[in-house]
Amino acid sequence: MQVYLNGQYVDDRDAWVSIDDRGFLFGDGVYEVVHIYQQRPFEWERHMARLERSLIGIGMHMVNAEELAAVRDRLLRGTESPEAALYIQITRGTQKRSHAPPAPGTIEPTVLMWVRPVDPIPSDTVRQGVRMITVPDDRWAKVWIKTIGLLPNVLAKGRALERGAFDAIFVRDGMVTEATSANVFRVKDGVLFTAPVTNYILPGVTRAVVIELARLHGYPVVEEPFSVDALYEADEVFLTGTLTEVLPVTEIDGHSIGAEAGPIALRLLELLHERARGS
Ligand SMILES: Cc1ncc(COP(=O)(O)O)c(C=O)c1O
Repeated sequence: MQVYLNGQYVDDRDAWVSIDDRGFLFGDGVYEVVHIYQQRPFEWERHMARLERSLIGIGMHMVNAEELAAVRDRLLRGTESPEAALYIQITRGTQKRSHAPPAPGTIEPTVLMWVRPVDPIPSDTVRQGVRMITVPDDRWAKVWIKTIGLLPNVLAKGRALERGAFDAIFVRDGMVTEATSANVFRVKDGVLFTAPVTNYILPGVTRAVVIELARLHGYPVVEEPFSVDALYEADEVFLTGTLTEVLPVTEIDGHSIGAEAGPIALRLLELLHERARGS
């Protein structure tokens, strides 16, 4: 598979980064994942805007977005799969190990991009919904930066899998923030609720699209904090994410949220697919 690394297109087996890369040493970098539907990137501008915010958030400059788009198009030309994930990772660059970050612009960032096919989530999984657990949100206070430093998310996902669940939902001070790689919505009496955009959640691109689609189709959306108890008592719960799309949740910490996927989640998934696939 051809990947892009620092100006070169190379086979992934020949793509290497230095042992002094700050991403490797410190997790000093940010990333984006873009869903490709039929060779077309979904919500590219929103992903670029978030990439810029993340880079500025760690004291770096935005890279040339036109160049990223050109690399994207070249990588997409080699992709036949109807659905794929485009991964972009930018680290601060390579420098003899030192905590002190170099001044912006003094070293070249490491830029990695690749496209890999993704399989759509099986329709049985969507119809049945997934099981979740809750875990304490012990991440840092700058979750809005899409950093490659994902160890708390990795550990929480591992804990969920150990317990036979699909994923974990983070809870901070009794309030639901988000899942390990998706945002969380609950539905009560036809109204959608999701955590507000603060420094404690990643402002999901899919979250924003789903809120737009919901409002457009007459479902009120409230962006305000809600408790774990409110989640247990919801009529429906679902996750949103670039590759997760809209994924119904039917059990949380052993509490049943309906026997199968809720109708509003399924409708929003349909609307998302219509928008993404242009039908
Ligand atoms: C922690 C976290 N929250 C939410 C999301 C969903 O964001 P998006 O819809 O932009 O993929 C992600 C995506 O990776 C994530 O890692």
